[in-house]
Amino acid sequence: MASGFHINSLLFLFFFAGSAFGGVHFSTLPQNLVVQASPKQGSVLRAGEDTIKVTWGLNQTLAPGLDTKYNKVKVKLCYAPISQKDRAWRKTEDDLTRDKTCQFQMVAKPYSSTNKEESFDWKVERDMPTATYFIRAYALDSDGNQVAYGQTTDSHKTTNLFEIQGISGRHVSLDIAAACFSAFSVVSLFGFFYIEKRKAKSSGK
Ligand SMILES: *[C@@H]1O[C@H](CO)[C@@H](O)[C@H](O)[C@H]1NC(C)=O
Repeated sequence: MASGFHINSLLFLFFFAGSAFGGVHFSTLPQNLVVQASPKQGSVLRAGEDTIKVTWGLNQTLAPGLDTKYNKVKVKLCYAPISQKDRAWRKTEDDLTRDKTCQFQMVAKPYSSTNKEESFDWKVERDMPTATYFIRAYALDSDGNQVAYGQTTDSHKTTNLFEIQGISGRHVSLDIAAACFSAFSVVSLFGFFYIEKRKAKSSGK
């Protein structure tokens, strides 16, 4: 009896410690936000150049008053599963303090229950890594804890994915183009001298 009580209180302590130090679990969050973004399925956006328009709001078909605790909305870019494969540093964890899916914040705004829909134009930042993404928004309460979410993809993260092409990837191809071009110039320069020399020779007799 005594030891049973002991184990129970230990379990309770573990549970308590877990909830005190861990974060909100994604699987417990209701999908009450509707999130839409301008990129079409499969489109490729260029870092530093293209813009994403993202729109979010409470799902209007839900019962009113669900959002009384919503204080803030954070909209984030998240790695699609194909870009997480074999990359532990992008791993999805249910505990949101450890989750690495959504590493890029696009915008954070106070939540407004009077605005049915809000939107934001986000220019794809220059340092975005090349990857496949979707967009997710979290509603936070006044303590900063996630209380609801919405995302542009389905629950399996297979639909409405888009790509961002990072700048470093483009630089490589630019560098290759530049190298080819300068090799071509060197060759043509020598060719030009050779022809001029021959011309000079033949006219000099
Ligand atoms: C809004 O909520 C309803 C009821 O849960 C659901 O059927 C519908 O798919 C949701 N709409 C969107 C766009 O997520």
